[in-house]
Order: sequence, then structure tokens, then C-alpha cells
Amino acid sequence: MEAPGSMSQFIEALEGRGWLRRISDEVDPCLEVTALAEPLMKAGGPALLFERVKGAACPLAINLFGSRERMALALGVEDLEKIPARLRGLMELELPQGLWAKLLTVLPKLKELRAFGPQRVKSAPCQEVVLSGEKASLDLLPILTCWPGDAGPFITLPQVITADPQTGRQNVGMYRLQRFDAHTTGMHWHRHKGGAAHFRRAQEMGVKLPVAVALGGPPAAVYAASAPLPEVLEEFMFSGFLMRRPLEVVQAVSSELLVPAAAEVVLEGYVDPAEPLRIEGPFGDHTGYYSLADDFPAFHLTHITHRRKFLYPTTVVGVPPMEDYYLGLATERLFLPLLQAVLPEVKDYHMPAEGVFHNLVFVAIKKDYPGQAFKVMNALWGTGQMMFAKVIVVVDQDVDVQDAPRAWWEALNHIDPQRDVLFSKGPADELDHAAQQPVLHSKMGIDGTRKLPGEGFTRPWPPRIEMTPAVQEAALERLRAWGLLK
Ligand SMILES: Cc1cc2nc3c(=O)[nH]c(=O)nc-3n(C[C@H](O)[C@H](O)[C@H](O)COP(=O)(O)O)c2cc1C
Repeated sequence: MEAPGSMSQFIEALEGRGWLRRISDEVDPCLEVTALAEPLMKAGGPALLFERVKGAACPLAINLFGSRERMALALGVEDLEKIPARLRGLMELELPQGLWAKLLTVLPKLKELRAFGPQRVKSAPCQEVVLSGEKASLDLLPILTCWPGDAGPFITLPQVITADPQTGRQNVGMYRLQRFDAHTTGMHWHRHKGGAAHFRRAQEMGVKLPVAVALGGPPAAVYAASAPLPEVLEEFMFSGFLMRRPLEVVQAVSSELLVPAAAEVVLEGYVDPAEPLRIEGPFGDHTGYYSLADDFPAFHLTHITHRRKFLYPTTVVGVPPMEDYYLGLATERLFLPLLQAVLPEVKDYHMPAEGVFHNLVFVAIKKDYPGQAFKVMNALWGTGQMMFAKVIVVVDQDVDVQDAPRAWWEALNHIDPQRDVLFSKGPADELDHAAQQPVLHSKMGIDGTRKLPGEGFTRPWPPRIEMTPAVQEAALERLRAWGLLK
């Protein structure tokens, strides 16, 4: 199964499986598209291709990634679990034992990954049409006003490409862009993210920061923009690894930035650190609440390039679960082997939809010594974007953490709160509106594992109730025979 190389290939593959519906009736990008897409996102409904969007020059695609199966198709696998298996294979073969930092330094050097580095091409579909000056207008795109309290229309599924002005190393991040006018947007990169680090570097050097925003292209590249990759692992190389072939890239028309050649549209321009920040938001966010207005840089558009025939891929976030849950699920599954390289006792982990990624993480561990659950929480809080995890619940390895109600049941049975809850402190996601201070909050770790004598627990631990297997099997057969069970 080959990973799609463009949005049109992805749409063809979705249509072939009956996972996409074309809608030819005209729809309004202001609120109506959300009102149409949200109920389907919640109900596991299909991807939608709106062929006629009021006032727009192109069709709009939404909910392309909105199921586990569609996410797998986007990355060219039957099942998402195939990818961690590949990553694990890489590491077992070639990685020395060692620390997280060592691992991440070694990763991009691995032969298999190197073979997937991006491939530069001279001419590209995304530059069939080049617009500059007044003609480079956002009016070309059906940008959604998603929710009634939003400050305006927002581009919600972008690949924001920047390069470190000192090293030239590129980063790609998915950061929303609020349309301020036809040639200006907000640039909502949170301060912990790759794009914001490049912005600060440009500020120190007193230079403008070129920015290219790709819309569409290979779905693996769209996903990679949302993945919390360490700085040493470039998104384009990771996209190539996922696609099992190099990502084709082309130089932007107005800067040295490289952009996915197969993108539908590329917005080119710059962010100027010498300029005052501008108010961005509010925006109906993936926490299910509005993220409040705050100061962010402005992105000035100088050029737009696009395919002759192009579409506008987008999404809507809101009260979970929405489409973005499945992008996060891919990250959860793909990053398990990386976590296990540093924390071999971790058997599985899960970020349920209601935890909106950063509020709740369940972790199942093989516990061998006193205090190990606390060791795991502390390590996670020190690992990449896991630093944002507000609540971590650690349970024993025999608990299926993919089943959140069961994981809660096990953990709640096993805790004495005073003994088993650890409060810590650290950076908060910018979207945590309840934090004591912006981007700084307390964290709670819950040790829901069975307690050991070495942890001061000397009474017997009761067994979990389970029926004798043979008796249960026979009873199930009778229930089926009586038509009471399928
Ligand atoms: C649909 C969607 C929208 C997102 N919007 C933002 C955003 O506006 N700002 C932000 O900092 N992160 C946002 N994120 C999360 C980042 O994309 C994610 O943290 C990613 O790892 C950032 O890339 P980086 O690690 O290269 O900075 C969004 C994620 C998704 C799936």
C-alpha cells in the first residue's frame, strides 16, 4: 500500500473506499461548514469535499483525517501499528543504549532515515501559478470562520515552514493563521514551538524571518507538521520515512525555504520581529473552549503560488472528539517506541479524547521496584511536548490503557490519594486556560499501580475478580444458544 503523494491521490483513495462524500450544493464558509462537519466528525462520518463554497475560487476538503482508518490510509499503512513496528525495528538494529538526547541525535543519522531525506525538484505543481503583490490575496481561499465567538476567519490545517536564520535548519509546524486582511494573518506559534524559536533567533539577529505556509500536499507531510518531532529530526525527512520515499520539495519563489512540491497552495511572505505584536483570537479551540485573545506576530504575504486546479484542505476543532483527535492518535501510536527507548518499563500509553492531549495521559508500566511510577511521571514531564501533561495516571502493565474508563477504574481502586498523588510544577500548554499563570501550571501524577512492600504496603493486595475460564466459556456458549448473546 503506497502513501498518497498529493491531496488528489488521497481523495481518490478515500473515494475508492467510500470514505468521502462530494457535496455540490453551495455552502457558506462562515459557520455553516462547521455546523455541517462537526456532527459528522463526532459520529465517525466521512470526509467531505465541498465543491462550491460561497465566494471562493476552489473546493474545500474537510475531515480527511477523521478516523483511525483514514489516518492510516494517509500514511500508507493498513493499520497505524505498522509504523511503530518499523521504528522499533530501526532502533533495535542500530541504536546504542542510552539517553533520550543520544537517541534523538542518532535517529536522523540512521541509514534508513537518511535515504528518505527530501528530494529537490526544479519545477513543481504547487508553482504552476505564481501571484505577487495585490494579486497574492487571501480572497482566493475559502477560509473558515469556525465558531460564532471567533475573531475572524482562520486557516486551520497549515504547514508553517521556517528556517533557523543561523543554521538554516527547517521546521514545519501546524500553527493556525487568523486572516487579518487579504495580505496579512496572525502567526499563532506558541512560545514552546519550533517556529517561535526561529522567530526569537531572528529577533536576536535583527532580521526578518521568511515564512512559507503550505496547504495540502502529501497527507504524510500534513500530519508531520502536527507531530512533536525533536529539533534534530526534520519534518520533511520524517514525512519521507512515513511515505517510504523521499518527499519532493521545491524552493519557494521568494526565499530559500523548501516547500512540498505537491502542495495545493503555498503562501509566502515574512514575519518581522521588529514589528509590534498584534492581537490574535479568540478562537474556538480543541479544548472545547475559546482560546482567549493574545499577542502574536503578524505574517505578511508577498506571494501565493498554487496548482492550476487546486483545493483548500481544512479542519475544525472544538469540543472533542473532532478530526484533530486522529492526528494526535497517530502521534500517540508512532511515538510509543521512542518513549520505550528511554523508559523500557512503559508497555503502552494513551491520551483519551476528553483529555485534549495535554490534560490527561494514561501510562501502563511493568513495575519492578518502589517508586517506579513516580520515576516514569517525572521522566515524561521532561520529554518533549509531554512537558505539558497536566495529569499523568500510571497503572500496571495488565491494564488496557486504551480503554479509559477501565484504566480509571483500576487506578481509582489502587490509590490512597495522600500516598499516591504527586504534585509537580512546570510549563503549561498555552491553551490551558485554568493555569495559575499563563503557560505555567501545577501537574498531578497519580500512581495507580499495585503497591509493593518496599512502598510501605505490607497487607495482601486482593486479586481482581475473574470467572474460571472454562466455566465462563461454557456459559457464553449457552447464552449464545439461547439467543441472548451474539
Ligand atoms: C489542527 C491543529 C492545529 C494546531 N494549532 C496550533 C497552533 O495554532 N499553535 C501551536 O503552537 N500549535 C498548534 N498545534 C499543535 C502543533 O502543531 C504541534 O505542537 C506541533 O508539534 C508543532 O510543531 P513543532 O514541534 O515543529 O513546533 C495544532 C495542531 C493541530 C493538529
